[in-house]
Amino acid sequence: MTDVEDRATAGFRSAYGQEPAGRWAAPGRANLIGEHTDYNDGFVLPFALSLRTVVAAAPQDGERWTVWSETTEAQIEFAAADVDEPGRVTGWGAYVAGVVWALREAGHAVPGARLAIATDVPLGSGLSSSAALEAAVLTALVDLGGLDLPADRQPRLAQRAENAYVGAPTGIMDQSAAIRCREGHALFLDCRTEEVEHIPFDLDAAGLAILVIDSRAPHRHADGEYASRRKSCEEAAAVLGVPALRDVAVADLDAALPKLPDDETRRRVRHVVTENQRVLDTVALLRAGRAPEIGPLLTASHASMRDDFEITVPEIDTAVEAALTAGALGARMTGGGFGGCVLALVEAASADRVAGAVADAYARHGFTEPATFTILPATGATRLD
Ligand code: GLA
Repeated sequence: MTDVEDRATAGFRSAYGQEPAGRWAAPGRANLIGEHTDYNDGFVLPFALSLRTVVAAAPQDGERWTVWSETTEAQIEFAAADVDEPGRVTGWGAYVAGVVWALREAGHAVPGARLAIATDVPLGSGLSSSAALEAAVLTALVDLGGLDLPADRQPRLAQRAENAYVGAPTGIMDQSAAIRCREGHALFLDCRTEEVEHIPFDLDAAGLAILVIDSRAPHRHADGEYASRRKSCEEAAAVLGVPALRDVAVADLDAALPKLPDDETRRRVRHVVTENQRVLDTVALLRAGRAPEIGPLLTASHASMRDDFEITVPEIDTAVEAALTAGALGARMTGGGFGGCVLALVEAASADRVAGAVADAYARHGFTEPATFTILPATGATRLD
């Protein structure tokens, strides 16, 4: 397959018979730690992947947007009237129309445009192909129209597209990662204030690698489960009389848990509160140049997602256990859950061995063979040319 940039350009030429005015790219993300903490006003630590979505684009007259996608090999077109009525544009086009809608709703004069989209971010693998698409389209439209929307305000807008237009009640992490990450760094984000700190995460220098294991597990009721986790966190915060679970510290847990109505809610709250602390502890170790020591925090995060937040599936737990048994320093599921990918922190020299051990464990269980690859922290959304 040719390079994703070339595929977007070739798609643009054949769809529209002209040259694009420019190309923009935004990455998928992996979250090192801090899961289901973002919509609780807490902390997350994602980094961008070198797998990207590329948009080739040029302005067109009027308030019309034409979009070709490599994934579907289809072209769609919508006008301002379609955009302004959420629900008219559906499927993958809703992510594009949602961005146009959110920009218009915020008062921006969005330029009409022709767009061609190609991507290397695997779809439905928990690596945030949707935020990559939103961020790539958003940066393209902001640039083409010369819109006054600095990068630090873009994630909220892209999140609004996803929440209010596409209808998925997600937090701010994925869009922030797709837009604000820096190469060689993890993004320490306070989801309440949206303040960021770019934490050096030089895996090569530490002799480490992050192995991604795509579980290939089919998503099982993921949307409804995500929404119900979010609701139960918000209800728990209300019972505890705090604006969000971010406001409960680990030291407060013993006093807080008995106030909650049932055991399930207590487990949900315990996950979020301890996970926030694990993010802070991970950041402290990375700041101190002690990357190899974050392994146990990653593994503890996984146990908390499995036992307390209950968002893992057998394929995912099998991958984590097999990676740890084969000598990974730490391993955890990344992303929203119910499938998706596992990250294993490994000594660089043992990445292949750990990948092989996971594949063997999958074969023993009769699971579909997992895809495995290593990743390095890459850059957020950029204009390519
Ligand atoms: C999905 C959502 C994010 C975040 C994660 C879980 O990726 O889009 O906002 O909630 O799940 O950490």
